[in-house]
Amino acid sequence: MSETFKFLLQNSMCHGVGWSRGLGDFLKENGYGRALILVDQGVADHSPYFWEIEGLLKAALTGLDVLVLRGSEEPDYDYLDQVAGQARALQKSDVLLGIGGGSCMDIAKAVAVLLTNPGKGIEYRGFHMVKVPGVPTVCIPTTAGTGSEVTINAVFTDKKEMKKLGINGRYLNATHAVLDAEWTMSCPPAVALSSGMDALTHAMESFMCKQHNGLTRVFSAAAFELLYKSLPSLVDDPQNRDKRQDILLGAYLAGVALFNSGSGISGALSYPIGVHFKVPHGIGGAVFLASVVEYNIKRGYTDYAELLDRIECNPGMSLAEKSKYFAELFRALSDKLGVPKYLDQWGITRANLKEVARLLIPFQGAFNQNPVEFSATEDGPKFLARHVKEGTSL
Ligand SMILES: [Fe+2]
Repeated sequence: MSETFKFLLQNSMCHGVGWSRGLGDFLKENGYGRALILVDQGVADHSPYFWEIEGLLKAALTGLDVLVLRGSEEPDYDYLDQVAGQARALQKSDVLLGIGGGSCMDIAKAVAVLLTNPGKGIEYRGFHMVKVPGVPTVCIPTTAGTGSEVTINAVFTDKKEMKKLGINGRYLNATHAVLDAEWTMSCPPAVALSSGMDALTHAMESFMCKQHNGLTRVFSAAAFELLYKSLPSLVDDPQNRDKRQDILLGAYLAGVALFNSGSGISGALSYPIGVHFKVPHGIGGAVFLASVVEYNIKRGYTDYAELLDRIECNPGMSLAEKSKYFAELFRALSDKLGVPKYLDQWGITRANLKEVARLLIPFQGAFNQNPVEFSATEDGPKFLARHVKEGTSL
């Protein structure tokens, strides 16, 4: 069967433990003389690798500015404008380096276009609103998960409207991505796990969603295999750099699959509970993922057999049996990674379930991407109820 689809992959990628030690030469080879680094505060304050690379870049380049971004909190448009203002006040750079987690890379990609396009960030909210290409950007993830180094999205919260809607589409890709596990070694374990859960959510949702195609499935399945085999090392063997490198690659591949296909129930649920209850993005998606797998299997979906084949050989099983077994393995992986079962700790409880369920209604379009029908008004509340203590029904 021949498929009709479009596939986008617009940046170069450099891969390897310690690769960043050659970053100065790479930048010069690409014609970049002066650079501006946007770096997460946690990385700037605590990462010896950052201090080493900063020193190497200072020696290699004609000029280097560094702006340190506030850590942890997911960015809003006011903060984006503040950073863009600081960057606009500096001497013009040939290249912008975003070194940090997904939020930092999103800010770097958005600042890159705000350096060449006038006005405030929120004026470019939506899809394909940016008119002029930004300053070339190198994104270097220090937590493996969001895939921002390869996607065409930069997510920001609008504090006034209490919703997350970023700057997306044309010119929102980094020019180059650097996957180097040395950067991830000083990432706090809880952040590494939450980011890993985000990558797993991207791999699974891009695999399942109705908009997948033959090529996105190649990326989703490869991402899943890498993540399934390497994420447990965050618990058992956190200093293993090769496994960390595999997680970075898995997150990258999952990002490619995600923005070329779509997401689904888990990704959609993570948005309202992130904005209103501050559930971290990675956890907010992963908390529902095993339930989504089980929900779909109960309704006859068997494509998970393909993912099982990537991680185990079970020649005697039917597609349905493979899918059921996959659900068990997936649940075990979620438990191993410490994916929370309940949302009570973020203030979503049996007492406010009805209010929270109402927040899901605008996301019906995203739920429609799930391969099995899912109603925001009927299935949404039941789903939430499964994830609060003593709350199997409303
Ligand atoms: Fe995500």
